Order: sequence, then C-alpha cells, then structure tokens
Amino acid sequence: MDRIPHLAARMAHIAAFEVMEIQTLAREVEAAGHDVIHLEIGEPDFRTPQPVVDAAARVLANQPMNYTSALGLMPLREAIARWYATRYRVDVPVERIVVTAGSSAALLLALGVLVDPEDEVLLADPGYPCNRHFIRALGAVPRLVTVGPESRYQLTPDLARANWSPRTRAAMVASPSNPTGTMVTPEEVQGLAALCRGKGATLLVDEIYQGLTYGFDARTALEAGDDLVVINSFSKYFQMTGWRLGWTVVPLALAREVEKLAQNLYISPSTLAQHAALACFDPATIEILEGRRAQLDARRRFLVPALRELGFGVPVEPQGAFYVYADSSGLATDSFDFARRVLREAHVALTPGKDFACADPERHVRIAYTQPVARLEEAVGRLQRFLGGR
Ligand SMILES: Cc1ncc(COP(=O)(O)O)c(C=O)c1O
Repeated sequence: MDRIPHLAARMAHIAAFEVMEIQTLAREVEAAGHDVIHLEIGEPDFRTPQPVVDAAARVLANQPMNYTSALGLMPLREAIARWYATRYRVDVPVERIVVTAGSSAALLLALGVLVDPEDEVLLADPGYPCNRHFIRALGAVPRLVTVGPESRYQLTPDLARANWSPRTRAAMVASPSNPTGTMVTPEEVQGLAALCRGKGATLLVDEIYQGLTYGFDARTALEAGDDLVVINSFSKYFQMTGWRLGWTVVPLALAREVEKLAQNLYISPSTLAQHAALACFDPATIEILEGRRAQLDARRRFLVPALRELGFGVPVEPQGAFYVYADSSGLATDSFDFARRVLREAHVALTPGKDFACADPERHVRIAYTQPVARLEEAVGRLQRFLGGR
C-alpha cells in the first residue's frame, strides 16, 4: 500500500480553480464534436506581438542564456522606468523596479517580505483568488471584505478602516480588477495609502491590467507615494502570458529584501522572456497593442448591453481588463450548475463566481471577452436560445 505523505495543514486552505472543471467539461463537449465558445479563460485570442517574438528569436540565436540578476536585466528595468515616465508621467527610480517571473511571483515576493504568520491582509471579495492563497501559503490570514456595486466592487478607504484589526499588515487592491473590470479611483488609492501609512502597514496595488482601460488611460498608484507596492506584468496588455514575466515597484527599503527572496525562490526570471520584453516598448509593438485594445473595447461595448438584454445584471460598467462579472441570479439560482448547463447545452464556456468570491458566488458568472465580436454575437445568440428554450 502506498504510504500517504503528511500533508501541510495550510493545504486545507488552498483551493483549485473551479474553471478547470469547466475546461475539462469543455474538452468533453468538444470531443463529442461541438464547437465551444471559450469565454472562461483570462487570456485573449491575440498572439504575442511579432516584434517581441522576433526579438526572442534573434537573442536565442545569438546569445547565451545564462541566469540574470534576480532583480532582472538592467536595460529592461530602465525601459520600465522610461515607460512610467513617458506614458504615466511618474519618475520611478530604477532601483525600485524588480522584474519577476510573472506578476504571480511579484505578489508572492511582496507578501513574502511583508507578512508574518497570523498577520492579516485585507482583500476585496470578489477578487483574484490566488491572492488569498498566496497569503495562506505564507501562514498569514486573508481578511476578505465583501464588496458590491456600491463601491464598484472595490475596497475603499472606509471599508478598509472598518475591517482593520491590530494584526492587519497590508491591504491589496487590483485596478482594473479581475473579475469585475472595475477601477479604484486615484482618490481612493490616496486614501488607502494614507490609511496604511498611518497604521505602519503597506498598500499593494495590482496594476496587471494597466493599459487595458477603455476610453481613458488609468493613472498609476505610484502617484500616491513611494511607500506602496505596485505589481505589474507583461502578461495582459503586452500579451505575453506564457512567457511568465512581470515586475513590481517596491519601496526602496524593500528592494534588497525582495532581491534576496527572489534569489532563493527562483534565482532569476526567464532570460529569454526578459530580452524579448525589451521589444514591448518599441513604437511598432505599442501600435499593435493599441489596435488590440480598441478591439477589446469594441467587444466590451457589444457584450455588456447584450448581456443586460439577456437578463444578466451588470450594475457597474466594467472599464478595464476583459471581464464582465455578471449577476446571473435572475436566470438561475446556482451559477456553477448554470455554467455547466450552458456549456453542455449551448456550448458556451463561462466561469462560475465560485472562483472569485466567498460571498454569494452562486449569484455570479465571469465572462471574458477574449473572442472576436462575431464569436461573441454567436455566444449571445446561443445563450438567448438556451434561456428562451427552458
Ligand atoms: C488580478 C491578477 N493579478 C495577477 C495575475 C497573475 O498574472 P501573471 O502571473 O501572468 O502576471 C492575474 C492573472 O490572471 C490576475 O488576474
């Protein structure tokens, strides 16, 4: 008989993605010969921009692929600093910029240097599920604050103050957010930063969807002070998900600590990805990315009213990322069961709210507008027939 290894108690708090179950089911539906429209995954249909791919090919052919500094290649850190200066009009010293293995590593590093076991971190619920699992993996406690349409599904300074405890060490927000696509205002960032500052805690702002806002350019939370942590990534705006590259901007005093932890956890981010990412800031790449941003906006402008027409509630207009967090409670009592039936019968894959929320998950689904408008039209038509035929 196989010996069952001892399992760390923390694993009881680490949940799998429900969306994986939907994806397994989607593969079964596809294997049965049906065309499934995938609106469940947080990854658009675009390929990595060609100038980035070309840069990678050139570097791979001509350079050795050694480890880099755990902080990342200096030319890439400098390019990120220039990007902040030119696009967001903030001066960020290169010493504060750490290139990481995706923003996932940035989140883990930042939390790793900030929280001790039993410390609490404030988070919005619904929110990106990995955050609470990172916190649990460190032995700390995610303090989920239920948020709704009245605060654009975001943690506000008032909500943070009301949920503060003597063990709170940090507050985390994402703007635009996954799963809601909503923003934290610059005033709210100021308020949250001031609250954290006053309590000797740290504000972490996840700006991984920065650049993917529609009709306006979001400001960066870095404006709110040099004592907060900002997380960013090459995954979403720059469309390099599988390259696993991100970055964080940390207070100067934390940079060395983050470096030490990165050295020990993974030595350095991918060398190839870092060289390739240098081409992200070329005007030719930005032109491609801005064209795609316009396409995402067109998808959003089609999908949100179409979903409302179908009977989904979308009380707050999503302004960024590529998600609609839709209230499905007028159509079904259990969104997980609803998502499974929609997939089996209408061949449209959606993510049930369970992946993002602890409060009222059965009332919501997340719909990712990661497919062209024609596919979204087809998906809406299928949903209409499914809902009409029940
Ligand atoms: C809000 C948010 N933060 C962080 C991540 C992690 O992304 P990556 O590690 O690819 O940068 C994601 C991925 O979907 C996300 O939605």
